[in-house]
Amino acid sequence: MQKRQFFTLTAGAALTAAALLSAPLGAFAGAPESFKIGLILPMTGQAASTGRQIEAAAKLYMAQNGSTVAGRKVELIIKDDTGLPDVTKRIAQELLVNEHVNVLAGFGLTPLALATAPLATQSKTPMVVMAAATSSITEASPFVVRAGFTVPQVTISMADWAPKNGIKRVITLVSDYGPGLDGEKYFKERFTFNGGQVVDSLRVPLRNPDFAPFLQKVRDEKPDALFVFVPSGNGAAVMKQFLERGLDKAGIKMIGTGDVTDDDQLNGMGDGALGVVTSHHYSADHNSPANKKFVEAFKKANDNMRPNFMAVGGYDGMRLIYESLKATSGKGDGPALLAAMKGQIFESPRGPVFIDAQNREVVQNVYLRKVEKKNGELYNVEFDVIKDVRDPAKTR
Ligand code: PHB
Repeated sequence: MQKRQFFTLTAGAALTAAALLSAPLGAFAGAPESFKIGLILPMTGQAASTGRQIEAAAKLYMAQNGSTVAGRKVELIIKDDTGLPDVTKRIAQELLVNEHVNVLAGFGLTPLALATAPLATQSKTPMVVMAAATSSITEASPFVVRAGFTVPQVTISMADWAPKNGIKRVITLVSDYGPGLDGEKYFKERFTFNGGQVVDSLRVPLRNPDFAPFLQKVRDEKPDALFVFVPSGNGAAVMKQFLERGLDKAGIKMIGTGDVTDDDQLNGMGDGALGVVTSHHYSADHNSPANKKFVEAFKKANDNMRPNFMAVGGYDGMRLIYESLKATSGKGDGPALLAAMKGQIFESPRGPVFIDAQNREVVQNVYLRKVEKKNGELYNVEFDVIKDVRDPAKTR
């Protein structure tokens, strides 16, 4: 019999009673209950592409690996939080109390993950963060495990590459919230340490951003390059404005983390994106047998949609969950599952990864990539790799 997990919220007693009343009959009859994964994603709203990519990846993982693991049926419960933290939190509560989910997963934006982290702690439920990338998220709950990346992790490689490649004066342009502020800070620190100069730091609102006035300012100040962080789904808008305002013609290069040349949107950006150099942990063009297999299967199952780094976070997150279920012989409670996620090492479509048991972060390769055309399509083509990069924001 599975040990039931109870937790207290503000209305703790009432919720606990509700949890008892709604416990599935199987829990008392001794039949193995299904193992439930509550996958909370922005399926609508500004971050909907992240939801679409992760949903597709999670379903692909299950199609490839079966839906019975260690004798238990795995049930994926997908919920749309529309990208709003209050909604994410409410859905997480409902999934814990009414559905008795064994694992929470997804989290398309940092505020959505931060709103949910206290519930993971209280209920002792592993929370697999597949997308959100602010460094501090793993510190918000000891039950958070990262399946994607952190922005500082992928930023520092760009701050090392740029000054060696003639880029000395940079303006940073970031979305004004957690991951953007991480990118701004870690780019500036490292780039300055390497002898570069950040002459201005611009922050654009996350909701309904208008990049035009910021880009006009950049054009007037004429740095060697503009370093950009915007969350997945916003890159095409930045690129369009960058080109429309003629920043490229003014000799200003665009650099950034790979979020801006996101595989989900890259092909639609047009030839103006050619030559843009970014640093990131995943490109659909990554040259490995595991990735080729992944991309092919993903496209086949999804009407030729190209997977992006969010899809890989979702796919690998499912793997963490499946392997933890196997390692605990289908009987593990939250803390046992969490323990089995820590320290996992495996070959991902992105390359080798492992989960640092101390801080629950992904350690992985970061690649430098340039946008090039291959068989008529735009890709982030990797030309250098920095191996086994940790999140530089963590001392341990
Ligand atoms: C985040 O909100 O943490 C986030 C979202 C999308 C990204 C990166 C970070 O591409």
